[in-house]
Amino acid sequence: MSDIPLIDLKADPFALFAAWMSDAETSEPNDPNAMAVATATSDGRPSVRMLLLKGVDERGFVFYTNLESRKGRELLSNPHVALLFHWKSLRRQIRIEGPVEAVSSTEADAYFASRSRMSRLGAVASEQSRPLDSRSTFEERLKAADEKYGEGPIPRPANWSGFRVLPEAIEFWQDRPYRLHDRAVWTRDGNRWNVTRLYP
Ligand SMILES: Cc1cc2nc3c(=O)[nH]c(=O)nc-3n(C[C@H](O)[C@H](O)[C@H](O)COP(=O)(O)O)c2cc1C
Repeated sequence: MSDIPLIDLKADPFALFAAWMSDAETSEPNDPNAMAVATATSDGRPSVRMLLLKGVDERGFVFYTNLESRKGRELLSNPHVALLFHWKSLRRQIRIEGPVEAVSSTEADAYFASRSRMSRLGAVASEQSRPLDSRSTFEERLKAADEKYGEGPIPRPANWSGFRVLPEAIEFWQDRPYRLHDRAVWTRDGNRWNVTRLYP
């Protein structure tokens, strides 16, 4: 039928995630770590946007953002998120669901310090998701931050940090001919993971 291997149900989901991400790093034209992140208000109204995955280990999946942004405010009242990676070049998707926890300030400081100077100034100057009366206001705020910090260290803004998604479910989806796709979902049961194949 097809020489695409079926998803190995004996795989560790984090190892399988790493293998698929590694394939995407080779095949995607840019941002293989881009993912859609869905949040919802406390009464369940969803919103979704793209973010970059900035860390993953057996604890979970980390992204960074402005805590007072729309997503930041939604996460404060409802910690449940859904993540979606879709790699067109590989015809694969991965869905992840679970609550978030805040990363430690040490971890956020270390990641913030690794960003380019302009990215750090941007985080200082941007009131993400709030109305901006004109682009020049933002440019003036960037210039003010630039002059304030000069070549010295730029402290991480108090409203900028990271979240770790603690996965309760991780689903792998592989395209196969004639839409006879392959799906397998790992769900967390305490410290162990159960796996099951799903109809496409
Ligand atoms: C490929 C891509 C990657 C992005 N990565 C981030 C990110 O890592 N952090 C972030 O705050 N915004 C990122 N953005 C911008 C978000 O999509 C979004 O515009 C912003 O976070 C505000 O979302 P909100 O108003 O729902 O809070 C990215 C956008 C794209 C298209």
